[in-house]
Amino acid sequence: MHTQLNNITIGYSDQGTGLPIVFLHAFPLNRTMWEVQEQALSSQFRIITIDLRGHGESDAPLWHYTLDQSADDVRALLDHLEIQRALFVGLSMGGYILFAFYRRYAARVKGLILADTKAPADTEEGKNGRFQLAQIAYRQGPSAIADVMTPKLLSPATIQTNPNLVQHVRAMIEGNQISGIAGDLMAMAERPDSIPLLNHIACPTQIIVGELDQATPPSDAKLMAEQIPHARLAIIPNAAHLANLEQPECFNQIVSAFALNLEK
Ligand code: MLT
Repeated sequence: MHTQLNNITIGYSDQGTGLPIVFLHAFPLNRTMWEVQEQALSSQFRIITIDLRGHGESDAPLWHYTLDQSADDVRALLDHLEIQRALFVGLSMGGYILFAFYRRYAARVKGLILADTKAPADTEEGKNGRFQLAQIAYRQGPSAIADVMTPKLLSPATIQTNPNLVQHVRAMIEGNQISGIAGDLMAMAERPDSIPLLNHIACPTQIIVGELDQATPPSDAKLMAEQIPHARLAIIPNAAHLANLEQPECFNQIVSAFALNLEK
């Protein structure tokens, strides 16, 4: 499905009925990274997946991106779908956008699942890495980004034994426009430190991390779990950064249990 909001086209899916659960994808992927969650959970809940600005079927305008703008896009989609409050699941960049969303629209948040993400802003070295990656995207195109990113997103075992999943991840990355890749990199480099926000998060919160995640390791997840009041932490074995794709049953079970509890 598509809609026009904030002057661009946004692609999204809306399946099922019940408690709305909104899924925000990682960089530089798109909403198809949540297909397995959509299939498994839409018999119990209303599952909304969004192609964030710059990705998938959404427009990737050549302009300045911010994570606040992505949070505004999500809010506009909620308004369009007439959803007042939802459970939000954000993985990595999706989690960074949830921090921005919570700062602006906490009243719309019934619960948060922060997966394979982290609260601190980029270090100077991290910002420099984003600058270099944007230059690779510009000079060599999205398949060079897939070469760099795939080993950061998936565990070595998945890369060796699950060619279909590797191909799906590469295809998502290769489908991006350069404006979307570079726009996200600039937006992530400019994002503020969210550590001061953590102890102000008042909604029920579940943290999930793959035990092998090197991009946002379990130490980042533990910090969020310590600082967000009453947050729960789940560490998924045999998964790296894309824990929802590498261990979908375990990931889905955690989301489903948390969502059922929220409905009580
Ligand atoms: C992601 O998966 O969204 C990225 O690894 C986040 C990042 O680059 O900080």
